[in-house]
Amino acid sequence: MAGGVSWEPWPAGRLLVAEGRRLPRGFFITFEGPEGGGKSIQSRSLAAFLESQDFAVLWTREPGGTDLGREVRRLLFDFSSVLDPWAEVFLFLADRAQHVATKIRPALEQGFIVICDRFTDSTLAYQGYGRGLPLERLQALNALATGHLKPDLTLLLDVDVETGLRRRRSTEELNNFDRRSLEFHRRVRQGYLHLATQEPERWVLCRADASVDEVQQCIREAVMHRLQSLLQSATSP
Ligand code: TMP
Repeated sequence: MAGGVSWEPWPAGRLLVAEGRRLPRGFFITFEGPEGGGKSIQSRSLAAFLESQDFAVLWTREPGGTDLGREVRRLLFDFSSVLDPWAEVFLFLADRAQHVATKIRPALEQGFIVICDRFTDSTLAYQGYGRGLPLERLQALNALATGHLKPDLTLLLDVDVETGLRRRRSTEELNNFDRRSLEFHRRVRQGYLHLATQEPERWVLCRADASVDEVQQCIREAVMHRLQSLLQSATSP
């Protein structure tokens, strides 16, 4: 494919990039939320749905959407001692800068719908609200790393901390981040809820303790509503 966006296998054996109808300009959707909200399965299921509607779609995630990101993910999750909070931030930001420059922006410029499992708001929620770093500085660093790129729509899959961690434990091995204290995870969740109230036009909250289908329904309604408005404004004179 042209423009530096490569075809790669989805972990589930599907394509990460699906060709299809291009939008007049790209549309950038991010998934956010505390652990165990099902972002990964829900965001992939949205990608498959949009692909079935014949849209050009790129599904990706942070950390891990690039070769550098995969290394950062391994480093962060396997590191045996507690990382200095700023060191942690700069690792996420290195991944983000590379990810935006080589994957996300080229795809948006080609009219793709880009779906990203975690993005800038994760840094605000985890390193800001969770680890206590100043939000204004993190916002400035996010802007620097992304060249001021902001999501058009952010889906917050909200779940209470105990339920989320229990779910997480039942499906995969816990990483260094999951093992942080309950208080840390509570601050992260409250941080997300606060971020969502500050920019209600960008965020849509879906309760993630509902069934997988109900959560997907909430997500699709929000996405199709925005996409229809976008397509209408593009065709009206
Ligand atoms: P996940 O992709 O399995 O949700 O794991 C990613 C972990 O990394 C999760 O605990 C959130 C954390 N994280 C941050 O702390 N800051 C960030 O900027 C990002 C992207 C993720």
